[in-house]
Amino acid sequence: MKIVSTIQEVREQVREWKKEGFTIGFVPTMGYLHEGHASLMDRARENDKVVVSIFVNPMQFGPNEDLDSYPRDLEHDAEICREHGVDLIFHPTPEEMYGDNFYTYVDMDVLTQELCGLSRPAHFRGVCTVVTKLFNIVTPDHAYFGQKDAQQLAIIKRMVKDLNMPLEIHGCPIVREEDGLAKSSRNTYLSPEERKAALVLSRSIILGKNMVEEGECDCGKIISAMTEEIQKEPLAKIDYIKMVDLDTMQQITAIEHGVLAAMAVYIGKTRLIDNFIVEK
Ligand code: PAF
Repeated sequence: MKIVSTIQEVREQVREWKKEGFTIGFVPTMGYLHEGHASLMDRARENDKVVVSIFVNPMQFGPNEDLDSYPRDLEHDAEICREHGVDLIFHPTPEEMYGDNFYTYVDMDVLTQELCGLSRPAHFRGVCTVVTKLFNIVTPDHAYFGQKDAQQLAIIKRMVKDLNMPLEIHGCPIVREEDGLAKSSRNTYLSPEERKAALVLSRSIILGKNMVEEGECDCGKIISAMTEEIQKEPLAKIDYIKMVDLDTMQQITAIEHGVLAAMAVYIGKTRLIDNFIVEK
């Protein structure tokens, strides 16, 4: 496994692989890798070569967010990548990615204006811009994203379609801790007491999912029940709990087609997200 930090090194390696006719699977990450990322790498092994990028992208963090404190551990990340058969890690600096002057952005309407886009206004512009750059650098045939960031996945799928990017995007299931908490690099911020309190998210998700499975179609009723569950936990503060159309991310009132039920909840200072999908 190679670890490189320049765009040129990635390009040279990819050019060699492409000459050999190899397919490339790509897993973009911000590092501090866990089993959720590992599941994406495992899936990406359906390609001949697997590239993982590790880059804490400053552009997708707001002014009062956790850019500086975001956890980083390249050595441990490299170990996980090695164990999961990764061929190349791209670990650029912000200077390598953005240089001194950077004026070009990839932005999106509609899908970015709901859910996390409301409380993190420039977030998805940063995600779309960096992911476009990474796609242009790595030129993968397939790229893999976690369903935990369901809005991000929907946005990237749409961006690839709208801009005719020549690759396929794959969404992979949420990976959870044994007790139900969705795996996230940000779980490390939780104190032991908060870690226990955070289970309220998955409890609320299970409650909503069960209601849908039992035939409830009224989104208002499902959201109320999920909200009540979260409110039982004194350390939890709801940012949003919403049900939206899976393709457009616009709020819906009744379950008819594909639906995303998504939540963002603060546990203390840590903002956690979780969701479930209803495919119809
Ligand atoms: O999901 C993430 O870790 C990031 O948003 C991504 C896709 C790597 C872009 O920085």
